[in-house]
Amino acid sequence: MFKKTPELYDLIYGGFKDYESEAASIARLVANLAPDASTVLDVACGTGSHIAHLRRSHGLLADGLDIERGFLDLARTKVPQAQFWHGDMADFDLGTTFDAVLCLFSAVGYVRDLQRLGSAVSRFRKHLSPGGVLILEPWFTPDGWTPGGIYMHCREEESLKVVRMSHSTVEGRISRLVFHYLIGDGSGIEHRTEIHELGLFTQAEMRAALANAGFREVAYDPKGLTDRGLYVARAG
Ligand SMILES: C[S@@+](CC[C@H](N)C(=O)[O-])C[C@H]1O[C@@H](n2cnc3c(N)ncnc32)[C@H](O)[C@@H]1O
Repeated sequence: MFKKTPELYDLIYGGFKDYESEAASIARLVANLAPDASTVLDVACGTGSHIAHLRRSHGLLADGLDIERGFLDLARTKVPQAQFWHGDMADFDLGTTFDAVLCLFSAVGYVRDLQRLGSAVSRFRKHLSPGGVLILEPWFTPDGWTPGGIYMHCREEESLKVVRMSHSTVEGRISRLVFHYLIGDGSGIEHRTEIHELGLFTQAEMRAALANAGFREVAYDPKGLTDRGLYVARAG
């Protein structure tokens, strides 16, 4: 995953993701479905960018959980007033509930298989108060994934320059992205490699996991926040 590059995440994704407008859309959805909602758990929160905007601009008390300690350190610096937990989305128990649970930017794909998908979705349900709202941005479906894709991002700030190229493959229901980073600064150019493996789930499988976990009123928006689709469901 992002173990070798947590400090590069905001530089790379800040180049093409608009966290401010995504947070505004999320806040609107939450307000429409649960007008009294105030607490939010962002599962797989990364460096905490959605949390920062939800707190700063929308008055929501957003906290986060992630499996990558390097991200949690960055998130704690970015949003010191929020609470952050280290944990696996398929196996966590915070002993409390929230009015909304988010799992954004396809992080759910990292569960890899249907059994862990079911566990994760039931953890989301367990952490929602009655009538609470789940906002879940899925990874690709098996039909939507294109093996053989080559992607490139170039970003720079002050004396740091980063090029990231990735190549996509597939093996059964696992999509694989191999990321190659060239990281240049005054001390030279370093090459790092990361492998990301995410499960490909159909819409029927996502819906079944949500229904089995006790979600109702499951709506799917094929466009969603970033053209990857969006499930919005209510804890039954
Ligand atoms: C594409 S990033 C999305 C981060 C953030 N939500 C955003 O929108 O920028 C995927 C995130 O999932 C986290 N992640 C992967 N597997 C996880 C797991 N089993 N439990 C919790 N977090 C996980 C990664 O550490 C990473 O922060």
